[in-house]
Amino acid sequence: MPLMPLPDEIRPASGTLAIGPAFRVAITGYRDPIVDRAVERLVSRLRAKTGLELHSIPTAGPDSALLVHCKASDPKFLSLGADESYRLEITSTQASLDANGPAGILRGLTTFAQLVQPASGGFAAPAAAIVDHPRYPWRGLMIDVSRHFMPFDALLRSLDAMEWVKLNVLHLHLTDAQAFRAESKVYPKLHQQGSDGDFYTQAEIRELIARARDRGIRVVPEIDVPGHSKSWLVGYPELGSKPGPYRLGNDGDTMDAVLNPADEAVYRFLDRLFGEMAELFPDAYFHIGADEVNGVQWQQNAAIQAFMKQHSLPDGHALLGYFTRRAFAILRNHGKIPIGWDEVLAGDPPPDVVVQAWRSSQLVAESTARGLPTLVSSGYYLDYAMPASFHYANDPTNPAAFGPSEEMLKRLAGTPLESYMPKNTALIPGSKLSDEQQKHILGGETAIWSEMVTGEMFEGRIWPRAAAIAERFWSPASVRDEASMYARLATVDCDLQLIGLQHREKSARMLHRLQPDASTVLEPLVDAIEPVKYHARLAARMRNPALGGAALNQVVDALSPESMGAVAFRSNVRKLLLGSDDFAARAVRMQLTVWRDNHALLAAIAPRSFAIREVFSVSEDLSMLSSAALEALDYLSQQKTMTPGWSVQARAVIAKHKALAAGNSDMLTSFLSPTLPPGEVMISVLSSIEDLINAAEGPGHVASAVKTIE
Ligand code: ACM
Repeated sequence: MPLMPLPDEIRPASGTLAIGPAFRVAITGYRDPIVDRAVERLVSRLRAKTGLELHSIPTAGPDSALLVHCKASDPKFLSLGADESYRLEITSTQASLDANGPAGILRGLTTFAQLVQPASGGFAAPAAAIVDHPRYPWRGLMIDVSRHFMPFDALLRSLDAMEWVKLNVLHLHLTDAQAFRAESKVYPKLHQQGSDGDFYTQAEIRELIARARDRGIRVVPEIDVPGHSKSWLVGYPELGSKPGPYRLGNDGDTMDAVLNPADEAVYRFLDRLFGEMAELFPDAYFHIGADEVNGVQWQQNAAIQAFMKQHSLPDGHALLGYFTRRAFAILRNHGKIPIGWDEVLAGDPPPDVVVQAWRSSQLVAESTARGLPTLVSSGYYLDYAMPASFHYANDPTNPAAFGPSEEMLKRLAGTPLESYMPKNTALIPGSKLSDEQQKHILGGETAIWSEMVTGEMFEGRIWPRAAAIAERFWSPASVRDEASMYARLATVDCDLQLIGLQHREKSARMLHRLQPDASTVLEPLVDAIEPVKYHARLAARMRNPALGGAALNQVVDALSPESMGAVAFRSNVRKLLLGSDDFAARAVRMQLTVWRDNHALLAAIAPRSFAIREVFSVSEDLSMLSSAALEALDYLSQQKTMTPGWSVQARAVIAKHKALAAGNSDMLTSFLSPTLPPGEVMISVLSSIEDLINAAEGPGHVASAVKTIE
């Protein structure tokens, strides 16, 4: 079934429900404008998915193709207790969706919309009985709108995409060193002087929240304090731990600037600002960040040092704890439940504070062992440019899933990064979370940090990969099959385009800007390459001022972190090697031929294209590897006898690319010693090509190639 996330229970039946021009929806039971509008959205999405001129006016007729029955209103709608369960039954004559409340109807309608696909006789939904509810009540997407401003229309489209995969929390990281993006009427210099002019007005924020509400999505603001606050200090330098002036733009203050926790005026400022934002954002939860304070400016300020002595605060961790406890109390006064990144654990937070673990899965273990409500983001950062499978394999309850190894932590010692790491990351190495600990996991959030993501790259850096993470948060933990996930992800990717997401268009436009012939020479190449991983690009820019300001308008910036074309190629290679799949064999041969031959075209226009020069050597290597893989296919289909040494050159190229990839093979290496390959890209089909070459070299190789891809 083409569903993502997969439902809790699904019983396929025989037959399909045809979707034709007479398709109608009838709404019965509790009538809620949210349900009415959701049905209108369903119809408009089915219009987009089928091209049929469907009518959105619900008719009450019991013979409608889809009957929607909402039992009652839900006083817990848009809270953690909201009932999102639903039952959907589809037969060859009719479908019926039943839910206790509006949230369940919203979720069931997207399941129905996903099920409608082209079939042999036209568009149809397969007959099935589905009973569904989420694994976790908190399934979020965090968007950093500070480092780069994300256009308002792109945020609105994100809500549609989130609804499509049943994500239900939009966490906006509104403020950081680079910009303060929410209009403040109380302290207007925050957004006026603390941004480049791009911020969301309060009217826009209200509109975003209303649209989110319609989709059963909560909007949680993050106002990050006391670090990541340089943008505040441009207009209000008196709040800082060091005398101003401060300026926007990357400089020494970017990571060091921090509010002064010894100054009562800072808490009065926070009280008024949080009060204003608490009213603007109606959600019960409010995030205060509290991440990555390096303590440099606290150490350099004599008054702060004296304050620490006076309050028996031995170090920066303790001072951060003091500050966060005060900030939590302010939020509670404004009726909010506070959230902080996992650094708040150092401050012994009160039991209602939600901890969002990001640095390591072991901090999930620590936070839940302390009985604190916990959100899991460790292992779900989309800006690492990792494949969907990496995130998919990371279960929120696995304390060994993600984090720096002991060896990596040793390498950190003495580097500036050390102050950012948890004091003890080896709390419960590898052991399972107890049932009691698991009860404290509210859910998880995937996140996109935007140092290296512009507004036009934004959708492509999130989708479709975030859908696989949405499944991790919604579906039972037992849903883990990677091949099934990728097969369904391809459908979701297509659906997201049909319902209006612009991830593909934006990428195509960026390529066309670089090269008017892009669809001929660049698009075939970009199917086979992807950006380097983790922090390599960011870290290289932080080290090299010449690179630091480089625009994000190169081929690498237009790429999807994981090409769906490469995913399809890998799947076809796997099928080809596992047996005689004719379709797969033809598809692989056709793709390799394109990659082999594309380079000659690219080479012809390279002299007049700065962008193509960046990826020239990668294209050349891909062409060479594709030739070798085509030769391997010939050997495998016994059309040729092997020439001795035929694979030597290809193996050397593979070894070279593996070595180039080593510099971004894990998070800390990418930060501490980033190495950037040409074009800052990697060949994403390297291992599939290697599998083909291995297979051609003998039965032993076939077995090992099959093993490595399973
Ligand atoms: C974070 O990634 N600094 C929360």
